This record gives sequence, C-alpha cells and structure tokens, in this order.
Amino acid sequence: MNGKRILLIIGGGIAAYKSCELVRLLRKQGASVRCVITASGQKFVTPMSLAALSEDKVYTDLFDLKDEAEMGHIQLSRQADIVVVAPATADLMARMAAGIADDLATTLLLATDKPVLCAPAMNVRMWTHPATQRNIATLRSDGITVLDPDEGPMACGEFGPGRLPEPEAIAAAISRMVSNPAHPELVEGSSFLGTEVKGKSAASTGSAQSELLKGTHIIVTAGPTHEPIDPVRVIANRSSGKQGFAIAGALAEAGAKVTLIAGPVSLPTPAGVTRIDVETARQMEAEVTAALPADAAIMVAAVADWRVDEAPSKLKKEAGPPSLNWQKNPDILAGLCAAPNRPKLVIGFAAETETAVEHATAKRLRKGCDWIVANDVSVDKMGGEQNRVHLITDAGTESWDRMDKTTIARALAQRIADALA
Ligand SMILES: Cc1cc2nc3c(=O)[nH]c(=O)nc-3n(C[C@H](O)[C@H](O)[C@H](O)COP(=O)(O)O)c2cc1C
Repeated sequence: MNGKRILLIIGGGIAAYKSCELVRLLRKQGASVRCVITASGQKFVTPMSLAALSEDKVYTDLFDLKDEAEMGHIQLSRQADIVVVAPATADLMARMAAGIADDLATTLLLATDKPVLCAPAMNVRMWTHPATQRNIATLRSDGITVLDPDEGPMACGEFGPGRLPEPEAIAAAISRMVSNPAHPELVEGSSFLGTEVKGKSAASTGSAQSELLKGTHIIVTAGPTHEPIDPVRVIANRSSGKQGFAIAGALAEAGAKVTLIAGPVSLPTPAGVTRIDVETARQMEAEVTAALPADAAIMVAAVADWRVDEAPSKLKKEAGPPSLNWQKNPDILAGLCAAPNRPKLVIGFAAETETAVEHATAKRLRKGCDWIVANDVSVDKMGGEQNRVHLITDAGTESWDRMDKTTIARALAQRIADALA
C-alpha cells in the first residue's frame, strides 16, 4: 500500500477505538491516512489521538472556513485513493443510502468520485433490522463496498453479527481495493458499477480479470428464499448460496457486469458484483424483472415453490398446530424464459436428490431454458465447498468431475463466454 492515500471516516460507535489501530496498521503498510471524525465519533475517540497516529490534521467540521479555503470538502473527498468508513454506524449508512449530506462525513461521501468501503459495527438488532439491511442493499447496489461484520459477543452483552471486522481484515480489504492492477479504474476513481471489485473478496482474490465477457450484463440468482409464516417464522431451505456467489464472481472476473440477486445468506459479495438482497420468491422475481435487459441469466437460487398466507402476529403454541394456507410461488425461471425481453442465454440449476440428470433434463424442457446444470445433492450436501455437476444443453449431457465451486464457476463462465460470442 506504499504511497496510497486513505481517507478514513470514523463514525460514532463503540468500536471507534479500533480505528486508531487501523490507522496505525495502514501507516505501517506504507499508506498515508487522513481522518475525518463525526461529532458522535468524537465521543468515543479524540481527534488528538487520531492526529497523533496519522501525523496529519483531523477534519471534523464542514463549515470550517479555513479548510474550505485551503482544502474544501470536495477536494478532501477526491484527494484520496479510497474513502473508508470504519466504524460505519447504522446512522451513517442510513444517511449515505438516502443521499443525505448534513455533516462533513456524509457530504464528502456524496461528493467523492473514489471507491468507498464501509466496515459496519453495531448492535446485532441494529444490524439485522430491515431498515439497516435495506440501506446496505442500497449502498451495495450504488457500488459501495460494505464488508460483512464479524459475529460474536458484543460490547452491549448480546451475541451475533455486528462486530467491526478486525483492523487487519479491513486493512486487507483496503489493500486489495487500492492495489489491484486488474482494476485501474479503482484508483482512478471511475464510476465503475461493480460493488466489491473495490473490496475483492477472498473467494476471487488472485484471479486476474479478463475481457472474455466485457460489455455483457448477466443476472445471477443465488441462495434460498425465505417465505414468512408469521413475523418470526419462515419456510426456508438449505441452499448456502456458495455456488451462485462463485458464479457471479467468476463472471465478473471475466469482465461481465453482474447483477447478483441473493436470498438470505451471509456470504461476502464477490468482487466486481452488484448485489441485491431479497428474502422471498416474489421479491426475487421482481428484482430479476427489474434487472433486465441482460445478455444471460444464471438462475442458481433455490426458490421456494410454495409460500403460505403470512399471519399478522406470532402464531401461539397454545393454539395448537396452525393450518397454513399454501400458495404457489411464481416460477421465476419459466417466467424469465417466456418474457419478451428474455436474455439470449438462460441457464437453470436443478438440485436433485435422485436421478439428477433425468429430472434436470425434463426440467430444462418444461421451463424452456437453454441449459440446465444438475447437481446431485444427495451426495454433495448443500453448503459444501465442492460440487459434481452435469451440464445439460441441446447438444446433450456433459458430466463434469467433482470440483470446488469456484472451479465450476470459472468453467461455466468460459462456456457462457463462448455461447455469447
Ligand atoms: C455508548 C454508545 C455506543 C454506540 N455504539 C454504536 C455502534 O456501535 N454502532 C452504531 O451504529 N451506533 C452506535 N451508537 C449510536 C450512534 O452513536 C448514533 O446513532 C449516532 O447518531 C451516530 O452518529 P454518526 O453516524 O454521525 O457517527 C452508540 C451510541 C452510544 C451512546
């Protein structure tokens, strides 16, 4: 990270003290760090500590006229190679998602033309609150990298996701973002759409980006859907989302613009991918439709076939076993295949527990998709790192060796590139 300039925004969270360690680490790795701290952030760490660690002035006030004359907020937001928000409070991310610019931090976040990385930290309930999750989905689809928080015991005594990732992990994400020569647009601060290209995830670190799929837009769905029974219960399935996320990452590596529509999973967003989080089949269908047009769509998600009418309040045990009113969910794959703006190449996935190839062959014809990838989940339990798949096309069935999911994803990306060429 030699010579890289990092603008670090420190929000008002209990984890703000870790930002001091982050400054120290980044400087040790050769970067220069300029700190901006929110008014709330100053309740947790002092500008004095940050100034001492960064050996630079610490910025706190939007209306500091001297600074506007010497270094306005626009300049401040653009003179860095990357803008990092750590800890990113629920409040800061909500204001960022809404485009609010009511203090120095949010104003320069709105004004910047540089990649932005958020490292969130908050109480588990704040993190899982639908409002926060909605804001994070917005930020990600706006091209901002949002790291997933760590899980564990929290300062407030609760347990779960919401802890600030360790400074070493944040520094590593920054390093990947600023030093990836495959993405010069990152340090140049172009308006590249990709989200996590700016925070290349472990899954795809080390693989060079190619131009195989340059100029294409590809939709990928991944993960399970959750269909609510009542406000606290859902119908779910065991899909881990790993294969779909690996495919999204491999397509982005190959130069495609990728829209990943993900059911509820806590996987990091692959590099270069724009991610939209959804919960139900109906939400997933709406996001697939909204993401069109696309050159190809890879429908990896395990979409629930059925949902039930959601009870408005928690079903009580004392009332006995509930009678659920089942409804058929939309068939997203078949709907997409029949759509007037159908992508040129539509690929379905079939997870089967028996006679995978026969079932998948029939499914391909029934749904009207071009290819189908069958995997036998009686052998490869969902959630594993490997898969054994069969690719079923017009030309017949190819059975691939058991491979890890990233290798399958890259092989599939190559085949998709050939088909779209
Ligand atoms: C003791 C204490 C700890 C807090 N910790 C967090 C936290 O970890 N994450 C968070 O999002 N908000 C936390 N808050 C709430 C924020 O400080 C509050 O939302 C504030 O408006 C954030 O301002 P900022 O986003 O401008 O920094 C905490 C508040 C207090 C009083």
